[in-house]
Amino acid sequence: MIIEKKKSLKEYTTFKIGGPARFFCIVTNKDELIEAINFSKKSKLPFFILGKGSNILVSDDGFPGIAIKMEMKGITYMEDGNTVKVTVASGEDWDTLVKETVEKGFYGLENLSYIPGTVGASPVQNIGAYGSEVKDMIETVHVLDVLKDEYLDLSNEVCKFSYRNSIFKKDPRRYVVLSVTFILNKKGKLNYEYKDLKEYFTYKKIKEPNLEQVRDAIIEIRKKKLPDLRDCGSAGSFFKNVIVSATKAKELTTKYPEMIVHPLNDKKVKIPVAWILDNLCGFRGVKKGNVGTYKNQALVIINLGNATSAEVIALAQKMVDGVYEKTGIEIEPEVEYVI
Ligand code: EPU
Repeated sequence: MIIEKKKSLKEYTTFKIGGPARFFCIVTNKDELIEAINFSKKSKLPFFILGKGSNILVSDDGFPGIAIKMEMKGITYMEDGNTVKVTVASGEDWDTLVKETVEKGFYGLENLSYIPGTVGASPVQNIGAYGSEVKDMIETVHVLDVLKDEYLDLSNEVCKFSYRNSIFKKDPRRYVVLSVTFILNKKGKLNYEYKDLKEYFTYKKIKEPNLEQVRDAIIEIRKKKLPDLRDCGSAGSFFKNVIVSATKAKELTTKYPEMIVHPLNDKKVKIPVAWILDNLCGFRGVKKGNVGTYKNQALVIINLGNATSAEVIALAQKMVDGVYEKTGIEIEPEVEYVI
């Protein structure tokens, strides 16, 4: 395995932003991963695990340690009655996996179609879209415990998944995801209750869509709402949605009657930050130097060409301040900063 020096990370991110990693390597198997981790330990430099770079913002100064790009490959299927266990190496492309499972007629991952990234990154931030979260299909996450130098099989419970969160996100230097085992179904139930999906099928006059139609619908919806990564850099939603108390939500809907709110239970309400940014702060489709927000989705910051991470952070701060001023809510980035 070659460990390169001073490798620009820009091209390894979907934002197309960022300086060089002090060291960089590509790992295709466990031995190479151990070699890279040992290098980091011996040289007392931090490591950073890179997938397809679709949820990160790399600093203009780069990363002062070793960036380890995961390219381990392999997919195995184990059928057992109506369920199928699929074990997938972390370097596999996420949407290629979703496409393959849908083609085989296995239910579970369809609502997570067309999300950029690798399989190894999917449990880290518990990817979610259109009323589905990957945690609901994950059985086990197979990892290297960097602290204890051992391989572990972590059950779903141990991973402590919640909205865009897990033990991997909370403690990023502890575990490296090697592969993930998903449980899928041969006779599953489709979920197309999400507003955009419902509207799509009503418009298309499809009463009972099938598995492939749900995937196709999501691809079409995502293509309309999110920027094409070939045209401009982006890392998807830049901020997380917020969960507030029912009292706070009542206060806000009294002030702003059109505000969209999703009650989770009697006490908690989820509020789409995109709606606030767009309708209360006028942040949809804005441009500031080389950065802006997407014309169809205010939550998405885009690189209009040659943007720096400093520019992104400056715009993000304006968005944080704007939301706070209007609602008193402090929004948090969903994108991970690599510094
Ligand atoms: N909205 C606006 N203005 C906008 C965008 C949206 O008013 O500019 C309104 C919409 O009309 C809708 C609501 O805000 O009523 C929510 O918008 P949307 O359905 O687009 O979803 P979101 O909450 O902004 C989340 C995820 C996305 C995921 C979509 C679809 C987060 C942070 N984001 O976005 O995930 O694709 O739902 O399920 O949870 C990502 O994580 O990178 C990502 C793109």
